[in-house]
Amino acid sequence: MNIRCATPEDLMNMQHCNLLCLPENYQMKYYFYHGLSWPQLSYVAEDEKGKIVGYVLAKMEEEPDEAVHGHITSLAVKRSHRRLGLAQKLMEQASRAMVECFNAQYVSLHVRKSNRAALHLYNKTLGFSISEIEPKYYADGEDAYAMKRDLTGLRLEEKIAVAKGLEALNLGDQSKETEEKASEDSCHERKCCSYSRYAKEEPPSRCPRTTLEEKKEATKEGS
Ligand SMILES: CC(C)(COP(=O)(O)OP(=O)(O)OC[C@H]1O[C@@H](n2cnc3c(N)ncnc32)[C@H](O)[C@@H]1OP(=O)(O)O)[C@@H](O)C(=O)NCCC(=O)NCCS
Repeated sequence: MNIRCATPEDLMNMQHCNLLCLPENYQMKYYFYHGLSWPQLSYVAEDEKGKIVGYVLAKMEEEPDEAVHGHITSLAVKRSHRRLGLAQKLMEQASRAMVECFNAQYVSLHVRKSNRAALHLYNKTLGFSISEIEPKYYADGEDAYAMKRDLTGLRLEEKIAVAKGLEALNLGDQSKETEEKASEDSCHERKCCSYSRYAKEEPPSRCPRTTLEEKKEATKEGS
């Protein structure tokens, strides 16, 4: 079993998996909206043959007056592959990417009040807590729990990892020239990823072109 970042080619198989597992379904364009806007945030679980057996579809929320946070739009694992820890791993990967790429402070989601398995996963395994009850949130009239998970712990882990990486490479006293180059690269990155307001503010560290210099800048800003 393998967990990896979803690519545009995966989106149709993710939709297929969603149709098999959940009554909340979305048009293909909604999958593309996620995949193209936040390519770092959605993950798939695949079996030995490369067949998709689970996914998490995630995004960043864009309300300017709220703290930066991610949102889990949908999560499902095929019946044949449940209780193997896949949903837990998918959720951890998406949350970590929200922190690494967008400096998310928390992640939110909705879940049916009656969804015992998902509630257990979110609350007991992943540490989400209920923030409010949204009456008749679902099309069939069922209430939803709105849940949140504070990502401070992951943010600290990320900062420590970046600091250790820089220390190992002895990049602590870079010359001015290198700093300026990092800043130029960073601007270039921001132009490339200009779709999301978060990407404009903070270059996603998982983008292949992101440099260690940029990471160092990000650590300085955030500390
Ligand atoms: C909810 C769902 C995603 C869980 O996927 P999964 O891969 O089986 O979950 P994991 O194996 O990662 O489970 C991790 C933990 O979650 C909890 N959990 C998962 N399924 C559970 C169940 N049926 N009953 C009770 N707890 C459960 C357990 O604490 C489990 O840890 P454990 O196996 O060590 O006891 C899966 O059941 C599913 O796809 N359901 C249908 C779609 C859905 O409800 N999606 C969520 C919408 S909000």
